[in-house]
Amino acid sequence: MSIINVDYSTRIPNNVGLSDDRRVLRALEGWHPGYLDWWRNMGPTGFQESLVYLRTAYSVDPRGWAKFDYVRMPEYRWGILLAPAEEDRKVPFGEHFGEPAWQDVPGEYRAMLRRLVVIQGDTEPASVEQQRHLGQTAPSLYDMRNLFQVNVEEGRHLWAMVYILHKYFGRDGRDEAEELLQRRSGSADKPRMLGAFNEATPDWLSFFMFTYFTDRDGKMQLHSLAQSGFDPLARTCRFMLTEEAHHMFVGETGISRVVQRTCEAMTAAGVDDANDVAAVRALGVIDLPTIQKKLNLHYSLSLDLFGSEVSTNAANAFNAGVKGRYRETQIEDDHQLRSATYPVLKLAGGEITSVEEPALTALNMRLRDDYTNDCVKGILRWNKVIDQAGFSFRLTLPHVAFHRQIGEFRDVEATPEGVLIDQATWRREKDRWLPTRQDGEFVASLMQPQYEAGRFALWIAPPKVGIDNKPGDFEYVQLAS
Ligand SMILES: [Fe+2]
Ligand SMILES: [Fe+2]
Repeated sequence: MSIINVDYSTRIPNNVGLSDDRRVLRALEGWHPGYLDWWRNMGPTGFQESLVYLRTAYSVDPRGWAKFDYVRMPEYRWGILLAPAEEDRKVPFGEHFGEPAWQDVPGEYRAMLRRLVVIQGDTEPASVEQQRHLGQTAPSLYDMRNLFQVNVEEGRHLWAMVYILHKYFGRDGRDEAEELLQRRSGSADKPRMLGAFNEATPDWLSFFMFTYFTDRDGKMQLHSLAQSGFDPLARTCRFMLTEEAHHMFVGETGISRVVQRTCEAMTAAGVDDANDVAAVRALGVIDLPTIQKKLNLHYSLSLDLFGSEVSTNAANAFNAGVKGRYRETQIEDDHQLRSATYPVLKLAGGEITSVEEPALTALNMRLRDDYTNDCVKGILRWNKVIDQAGFSFRLTLPHVAFHRQIGEFRDVEATPEGVLIDQATWRREKDRWLPTRQDGEFVASLMQPQYEAGRFALWIAPPKVGIDNKPGDFEYVQLAS
């Protein structure tokens, strides 16, 4: 039986029958105070007493699952929500293709599954930590509310992974759940597990880039895990994807609104050359070349999250039926990749060339390609805004060899166009491609909070529609006095 509605009678809202599962309920109740401590210490700075207009899931029915209301963040009802079980679900790929999906962890894949759950789990609190100061400079109450919505839901995603750990991984699961509260983004001795999650998110442009590019990596990873033969993981990831869509919406529309405002200001002031950085900055808006640099940075950091292009770990996880491909069930092939190949960009003889590799070991490359194709859509929309304003400037995704720390291109330097260059050239030119300290200082100088309902900082346009269809002057956050 699938449970659609969420049980709010236990301290931990859930649709997994926690009230009949005393062991796990007790384990989670034991973890809860540590989580709340973490939230208070590492969650949003300030605003913990403010009333925020947030959505909370009451159901996992895709036709209607969230309800909006004013909530103080520490009182948010974080819970355990799994998408409805699919009857007779089968393992959709790998060596166990066609066998019934597992309701428990197969012993032989225990270590692999635990590692995947922990890595996914670690990213969730990491992003909350990265974004914790942003409320102080919110360009509007609307944006502040969106930030906090993203934050509480990342908190819930941590709960989702912690539930899996407690329920299916016994004592090591409990230890891992504890560790998830101990690591800290950017910390020297206990950093978060993945590079992009230890970078700073110093300003709102970074936040929008992060939610567009880095949350989208999360989307791809969750899609792959949503295919897993381990059914509870598949179901939890499926519901997480429902929430994740909003995070990427925040990023896409955020950047779009920044671009729009910049174009409006240039038009009003008669600035024709989008590359005249000084003239544009004098208008108090973010010049398009700086937006491009931030985009270059966040896209390249996010590409690193896909790991090495050719990877036996990825092949093993696929063979095991543990981690599939993006939209696995919609792909028409044998779902086992016995003889298929896939083109991989590699360095050969000092050049970037496409080489056919066994599709099984090229799964990271494939997922990264799917990611890039997904990223392009936003670029097209932002460019449409620029085009409609009558400017010829175009935002572009940099080449995958640009600014990489992981994989095939980690030891070389390349231009955003993908031309390989030597170290000296890189050092000389890189300030044209990546944000400099001065760029950061300029953006930071614009980050003045705007807390009046219905008003927006001058560097960003208002949204086209409100959240939950609220009018433009709606008070999305009631600041505690
Ligand atoms: Fe998340
Ligand atoms: Fe997210």
